[in-house]
Amino acid sequence: MKKKITIAIDGHSACGKSTLARGIADTLEYTFIDSGAMYRGVALYAIRNSCLSKDILDVKRLISLLPELSLNFYKSEEGSCLYMGEENIEDEIRKPHVASIVSKVAVIAEVRKKLVAQQRIMGKDGGIVMDGRDIGSVVFPNAELKFFVTASKVVRSKRRFIELQKKGIKQTIEEVEKNLIERDYIDSTRPESPLTQVADAIVLDNSNMTIDEQLSWALQKVFEIISLK
Ligand code: DC
Repeated sequence: MKKKITIAIDGHSACGKSTLARGIADTLEYTFIDSGAMYRGVALYAIRNSCLSKDILDVKRLISLLPELSLNFYKSEEGSCLYMGEENIEDEIRKPHVASIVSKVAVIAEVRKKLVAQQRIMGKDGGIVMDGRDIGSVVFPNAELKFFVTASKVVRSKRRFIELQKKGIKQTIEEVEKNLIERDYIDSTRPESPLTQVADAIVLDNSNMTIDEQLSWALQKVFEIISLK
C-alpha cells in the first residue's frame, strides 16, 4: 500500500480552499480538516462567553477561558462537522457575527498554540488534507504537498455572497467584500503565523475554474507525488 501523505492547502479567504481540500480527501479517502472552522469555533466561544463588548475583544478573559474549550470534528450526515462540546456548531460559525471577529481571535498567540497542537495530533499519521492560512508554513512544514490557492476579489466575494444567500443569511455583496478584504489584511499582516505563500507551495489561481476543474488539476499533482512514494 502507498504511504499516506500530508497535504497542506493555504490561501485567501473564500477562495474555495475547503471545497478543494474536501474533494481531494474524499477521492483519496483521507481525513479532511477545515482549520478555519476551529478559529471560527473559538470566535463563537468568545461571543458566547461575554468576551466581546461593542466589538472590543477581551483577550485576557478569552485566554483564561481557553482551557475549558473543547472543539472536535465528528462525522454527520452532512459530512465532517465541528462540535463545541456536544453541540454541532457548523452552521453557527459561518454566520456574519462570527466572520466579523474571527481574524481578531486568530491573532492571539495562545489561541494559535492550542489549535496548532490539536491540528498536529490530528495529522500525526498522515492521510490528511488540511486547509487554512499557516498549514504549509507552521502546522505541517514537512507536508509532502502544499497548495497556495487564490482567486480575484470579485470572484471570491461573489462566491461567498451566493453561499450565504443559499443559507438564508442576509448580507449585501459590498458587506461580504468588505469583510473579505479586512480579513485578508489582518491574516496577512499579523505578527503571529501570517498567511504566506511558502516557497515550496504550488500556486492555484482558480478565478476562472469550476470546482471540478480545480479538483482535477490538483489531483493530477497529488497522484504525481503519491506515485513517487
Ligand atoms: O478559512 P476561514 O475563512 O473559515 O478562516 C476563518 C479565519 O480564521 C480567517 O480569517 C483566518 C483564520 N485562520 C487562521 O488564522 N489560520 C488558519 N489555519 C485558518 C484560519
